[in-house]
Formats: sequence, structure tokens, C-alpha cells
Amino acid sequence: MKKTTVDLGARSYEILIGENIIDETASYISPLLNRPRTVIITDENVAKHQLLRLEEKLNKNNIQFETIVLPAGEATKSMEMFNSLLDQLLSMRLERSDTIIALGGGVIGDLVGFVASVYLRGIDFIQIPTTLLAQVDSSVGGKTGINSKYGKNLIGAFHQPKLVLIDVTTLETLEKRHIIAGYAEVVKYGLINDADFFNWLKENGEALISGPTYKCRALRTKAILKSCEAKAAVVAEDEKEAGSRALLNLGHTFGHALEAENGYNDNLYHGEAVAMGMIMAFDLSEKMGLCEKEECDQIRLHFDTIGAQKASAFNFDVDKLLHHMKGDKKMSDGKLTFVIARGIGKSFLSKDVDMEDVKAVLKSALKG
Ligand code: GLY
Repeated sequence: MKKTTVDLGARSYEILIGENIIDETASYISPLLNRPRTVIITDENVAKHQLLRLEEKLNKNNIQFETIVLPAGEATKSMEMFNSLLDQLLSMRLERSDTIIALGGGVIGDLVGFVASVYLRGIDFIQIPTTLLAQVDSSVGGKTGINSKYGKNLIGAFHQPKLVLIDVTTLETLEKRHIIAGYAEVVKYGLINDADFFNWLKENGEALISGPTYKCRALRTKAILKSCEAKAAVVAEDEKEAGSRALLNLGHTFGHALEAENGYNDNLYHGEAVAMGMIMAFDLSEKMGLCEKEECDQIRLHFDTIGAQKASAFNFDVDKLLHHMKGDKKMSDGKLTFVIARGIGKSFLSKDVDMEDVKAVLKSALKG
């Protein structure tokens, strides 16, 4: 079992990573429970593969639980579902000293975290992320929320979990496309400030995604630990994104625009859009004379090698993408903040980006 800590003083918590760690949930959560009463919230897909094993172990260890199973998919991250969950928890008479367990991917983690942040003015919750994207990004750092008709994650709160339990074996029931999408967020940590990690991923990325089980598990554990350590360090320094945490948005300004234009459907997963967005962010950096074309090509080649989707496969309109970018929640004083780079592992924030350069980068990426 590997372990790292998100250091936030009295609100610090551990991230535990291992094979079949879900089966040990009872022993890890017991010391954190004010009383042994929990509610597990999950979705239909995750319930099929992971719920029974969790319930069995809680039962065996006399931890009381009720279970709520929600529909799978991004549409679940809605105000309607948020209201309905709060009603269900109130009707169960869940008390403030009880604990919620979020078992699932980013949709479940974000929604359940947000519910936990407001239920009785805040209740403890535990993250058991089951997708690579949730394991390396969304379950760590306390960003919770739901979508609005005006955009993704526009309504939410910072609410840190009490524990993050990452079981690498849960990834084995996911489609390869989901793994590739989550892997983009792993690559992100290398591109932000760890060129050695990016080099390691170039060596090991393909095997990590689809190698034999024994190899996958070890490589995934290492990559998840590295990612969580990187994220924990950023969150400890800037929990509420007053500054450096925004570096974690590398590729997201472009990526969110692609997702919005696509209509948030399953033709383009969030991680896939982030991969495309990171390539664009480096192309933009090159256009601005900040980094070498050779480095942009390395990133492009790596995503090609692992079989990631390309932006050119979509028939997007550049002006519409620019329009979406201007509605980004990261806009401040009427200016967009971009994460750009002086090279791999040398990313920084800039408000000083010429939208004509952004337009040119989008045009060329969409042409392929
Ligand atoms: N996913 C970016 C962050 O947690 O700040």
C-alpha cells in the first residue's frame, strides 16, 4: 500500500493507494467515523462491479450503511439530482456525525462532495474513486460541484474529504478509452513541472494503459502515487486556487471549449479534451516563442502513440470555440488566464495571450 498526505493543518487527510484496498475499507475508515453509520452513494455502472465487495466488508465489520445508486453519466451532476439526494439523506435522518462514502468516478465524487458540503451545513465524506481520472485528479483537493445550463462545475464548494482510498484494481473493469482519458491528467503533472515524470510516461505509458495485469497494476500504482503527490503539494500550497493551483488547469481552457462545443456528450470525454487542450497550450507557447516545436511534437507523438483522439477528428468551428472560451469561469477582469510553458515541465500562468494566436492554434489543430 502506498500513501501520501494532503497537508491542510487540522483538515489534512491521507490518500491510500493499493491493490484491492476497497476490501480493507472498514479498517481504514473506522478510526475516522464519529459513529459507525454511513451512506454509500454510487452509480449503476460502479455498483455492478464494486458495490457488493464494499458492502460485504462494511457488514462484516459492523459498520452500518445504506446505499443510494444513481444513474451513470454527466447528466447526474445536476441541480435536480443534488436536491433529490439532499431529500433522500434528510428522509434517512442522516446525522451530522455520520459519514458519506462517494464510490465512483468524477461525477459521483463531485456531486457527493457538494452534497456533503451543504448537508446539515457540512458532513464528513470519504472518496473511493474508481476511474483513473478521479483517482489522479478529481477525488483529491476538495473541489466539488455540479453543472449548470451555463457550463460545467459552475456551482460548487471546496469541501475536503476525510480520506481518499484508491484501489487500482477498479480500473480493470473500465474501457480502454476511459483509461486513456484519465491518463491525460497523469501526463498533465509531467507537463506542468516534472519533465522526468513525462519521460517516464513516454517509456511506460503504453504498458500502463494496456499491458498485462501484473505490469499494469505496478505502473498504474506508481503513476497514481506520483500524480497524487503532485496534486497534494499544489493543494496544500493553494487550496482555494488563489494562484498556483490554476496550473492544474493546463489544457483546460482549450479543453472546456471543446467539451462545450461538443455538447458534453460521450463522443468526447473530459480527459480526451484535456489531452487535445494540452497539445494546443504547448502549440500556443511555441507560437509565442516560448518553447521549441520539438517539445510540442514530443507531446503530440506521445498522445498519438497511446491512441488518444485528435481534435481534427471533430468538425468544430473556431469562432464558436473562441466564444466558449470567453465564457470560461477562469475569466477575470475580462481576461482569460492561460497555462502556457517555456518547455516540458516549465508551465506558468499568463493573462498576456493574444487571442489571434489562440485562433491560429485552434485553426491548425482542427485541420490536423
Ligand atoms: N482539477 C483541477 C483542480 O483540482 O484544481
